Amino acid sequence: MVPLKRRRVVKSRPGDKGPNKFPLVVLFLLERKMGASRRVFLSQLGRKKGFQVEDTFSDGVTHVISENNCGAEVRTWLDSQHQGQGRAQPCLLDISWYTESMRAGRPVPILDRHQLQEQQTEEADVMLLSVPSYACQRKTTLQNHNSVFTDALTLLAENAEMEDEDGRGVAFRRAAAVLKALPKAVTSMKQLNGLPCLGDHCQRVIRDILENGISSEAEATRQSERYNALKALTGIFGVGAKTADRWIRDGIRSVAMLRDSGHALNRAQLAGLQYYDDINQPVTRAEADAIGDIVERAVASVLPGAQISLTGGFRRGKLTGHDVDFLITHPEEGREEGLMPKVVSWLDSQGFLLYQKTMRNSYLESKDGPARPPSSMDRFERCFSIFKLTTEQKQEALTAEAPTESQHPESQMKCGELKETGHAGHKPWRAVRVDLVVSPISQFAFALLGWTGSKLFERELRRWAGYEKAMSLSSHALYDNVQKRYLRAASEQEIFAHLGLEYIPPAERNA
Ligand code: UTP
Ligand code: MN
Repeated sequence: MVPLKRRRVVKSRPGDKGPNKFPLVVLFLLERKMGASRRVFLSQLGRKKGFQVEDTFSDGVTHVISENNCGAEVRTWLDSQHQGQGRAQPCLLDISWYTESMRAGRPVPILDRHQLQEQQTEEADVMLLSVPSYACQRKTTLQNHNSVFTDALTLLAENAEMEDEDGRGVAFRRAAAVLKALPKAVTSMKQLNGLPCLGDHCQRVIRDILENGISSEAEATRQSERYNALKALTGIFGVGAKTADRWIRDGIRSVAMLRDSGHALNRAQLAGLQYYDDINQPVTRAEADAIGDIVERAVASVLPGAQISLTGGFRRGKLTGHDVDFLITHPEEGREEGLMPKVVSWLDSQGFLLYQKTMRNSYLESKDGPARPPSSMDRFERCFSIFKLTTEQKQEALTAEAPTESQHPESQMKCGELKETGHAGHKPWRAVRVDLVVSPISQFAFALLGWTGSKLFERELRRWAGYEKAMSLSSHALYDNVQKRYLRAASEQEIFAHLGLEYIPPAERNA
């Protein structure tokens, strides 16, 4: 049996603890299937009534309370806690004992109906897993055991997003993220019992795949004319869901049709069309590193001492991406001001930029702070660009990086890739989408966390902060709405700590 993961415990606020009226009773509420918020609520209720309710499990706990769990599930969880074996085992009780005790204002006698049910299920059908409901409470690596399901759900999410239905998109992404976090492949619907974020629609998709090997909905979508037109048109840099929809209603179904249509295009879309093939070709890690070298040179020549960090998917360990994301800062607050135009003009003068659009920093704590809902769009000095990367520059980055061939097995592979990507006729360069962001050092940790992704992971962090912690998180700051103050942080670790979350390293944020 797979041991249940140790859960992150939601800390109660100070002042919750009332007098402990029943010293022989030490309670612990299991979050599994109960959910973090309900657990916090019930724990606080218990404390108000004078019960000792612990946030973390320890040997001292006498009663473990759970909801919708069977005896085997809770025992498995208990075994995974590795507490002193010689100690008396705690009573494993159903939530009904707890609520009745709350009502009575004292621990009620334990009756048969308060004991956990023993469920008779085939071993193979039980996946005794606790998957916390927020993706930011889980570790999600790039590899997962359920890609048949997650691929279909991701395609449906993309389709919903291209249809400008973000709510539906997020629901599919959350479901896919839950399946990505499971330690083995799902083989029966029963294994999904108790897992969060799997609504009826997602369950239908999963059942279809279990029974028929494919999801008929995902396949129909993949083959539909509208999906393919949306994909082609939103694949153009500068084109979003709304524009694509408008063009499709004008009868445009492909990039070629758009080119022939004579439609008025803005500067970004013109560049998007011009470099369409390159931009839709995945960027490799070697290319990202080569661009990193160029950005490093640019930054070093306009502001010595400034530091650059690779963020986005590459920081999470992805081998390819749709663009390359960099965050730039300077260890001395304020020195970074006005840096972006200088970097951009250096890059431009060296012929590295095919397109760029720079935005000034418009973030002001006094204006953008708690008074406004945190916008997911941040306000750093920022540059959306298209780089011109020559095969030579890429080669240089590779040779500089590889110590010796025998010590660096990957270098062989990367050089092989290089030959293959000498695509697009005889063009000795390719266009690559690059995002540059400048942040003051005081906001750097927030910017780094916000720009590392994944998008769903970020979204879940903000949802966790808001719903579970009454805090507002953005790529600039973290604000505690109860204490009415900003919580500063110099590292990502500190931000996770402020949020009461276990630290998740970038490679495990691939939700
Ligand atoms: P990306 O869209 O580049 O995603 O945004 P990615 O994970 O790197 O994926 P690929 O590999 O390029 O396809 C990177 C991060 O930057 C944040 C997103 O939330 C994401 O976490 N971001 C992006 C912003 O905060 N603001 C933006 O305007 C754009
Ligand atoms: Mn990216």
